[in-house]
Amino acid sequence: MKAFEYQPGEDFAVAMDERDSLREFRQRFFFPKAASGEECVYLCGHSLGLQPKAAATYIDQELKDWAQLGVEGHFRAKHPWMPYHRLLTEQTAKLVGALPLEVVVMNSLTINLHLMMISFYRPTRERYKIVIERGAFPSDQYAVKSQLHFHGLDPAISLVELTPRAGEDCIRDDDIEELIQRTGDEIALIMLGGVNYATGQAFDLARITRCGHARGCVVGFDLAHAVGNLQLNLHDWGPDFAVWCSYKYLNGGPGCIAGCFVHERHARSLHLPRFAGWWGHDESTRFDMGPGFQPMPGADGWQLSNPPIVSLAALRASMDIFAEAGMERLRAKSTSLTGYLEYLLNQDASRNFCIVTPHEIERRGAQLSIRIPRNGRSLCEKLTHGGVFGDWREPDTFRVAPVPLYNSYRDVFRFVRRFTTALT
Ligand SMILES: Cc1ncc(COP(=O)(O)O)c(C=O)c1O
Repeated sequence: MKAFEYQPGEDFAVAMDERDSLREFRQRFFFPKAASGEECVYLCGHSLGLQPKAAATYIDQELKDWAQLGVEGHFRAKHPWMPYHRLLTEQTAKLVGALPLEVVVMNSLTINLHLMMISFYRPTRERYKIVIERGAFPSDQYAVKSQLHFHGLDPAISLVELTPRAGEDCIRDDDIEELIQRTGDEIALIMLGGVNYATGQAFDLARITRCGHARGCVVGFDLAHAVGNLQLNLHDWGPDFAVWCSYKYLNGGPGCIAGCFVHERHARSLHLPRFAGWWGHDESTRFDMGPGFQPMPGADGWQLSNPPIVSLAALRASMDIFAEAGMERLRAKSTSLTGYLEYLLNQDASRNFCIVTPHEIERRGAQLSIRIPRNGRSLCEKLTHGGVFGDWREPDTFRVAPVPLYNSYRDVFRFVRRFTTALT
């Protein structure tokens, strides 16, 4: 929807909610309550997604089977635990635009990032640099720097950080391409966030992959803020790997099991070095308990341990909802909802803040990052105390994301009213 079609009054929000074909999904989630007993305005799904009401039922089933069957649950549970993670494969593949062979749910995000870099960051004397975005999430920075140290390299020389131009907040796609073109034969790995956690900028992953591969670089993405938020087409875009967590837009619950993509072209690259564990071993001989590691083809071959069933169960509850809603419809609502948030914020005449997230819809997801130069942290705390949830990231950023699966236009309206009142 174009900005000039939005209207400033609450009646517009009410009318939009009535027209919203996804509105019933809101009822499937628990909203925290404010001290007044009223439902909170929750625009924090970019940090921790809300709990699907069905999660308890999914988890309960596994607790019951564990109580009644003990170890036999591996084979006789309603959904046997041995192949339980496979229940998520099809849906995960669909969600990220991949083949089932290319995805697996396992571990947590930073662990998966390390596992991928062990296999795909293979520095040589000539080609050894890693490219990340400046202001990448700290865990990514630590992971990448520790990989460089692990290979005996100095991050001061071997880590290249993409930066916005002077006076700008976001990195231009042209500048990314220019850097890759210019220095590509020194770059071993390009590892960017799909959506930057601080600015909310979405990168052009297809273009970066194309450009990186043309210069012989390996390309990997951290999709923590992109999965369940943007429409992804990983197989066709062709990055070598991607990793993500499931507790943000995917609503899998705090610390939920994460996801990993390895492109089909590596599915049978058995020569790749990897840190191995028994769950990645060929399942037809896994229980022969032999000493030789024979990896499963595809992303499955990077698994280490048997997975946490309770966490997988919680994630299934949410993924079943995603499958019903469909990413295409969710993204269409998301662009409209975030556009509405931007429109209402821009109505505020005082403007003691600025939006740093790009305006173009293809350069952002649900999140808007609002820079508040003065007293932003205390403003954020005040809002949270009053039942209005975004979150604060140092030094000056208030992040908010209306999530199309459970947020309404009225949530956005209420948020902006409370936010602008608190600012004055
Ligand atoms: C972009 C990004 N990368 C990495 C992480 C770290 O995730 P985890 O603690 O699940 O490894 C986060 C967590 O919020 C994140 O937002």
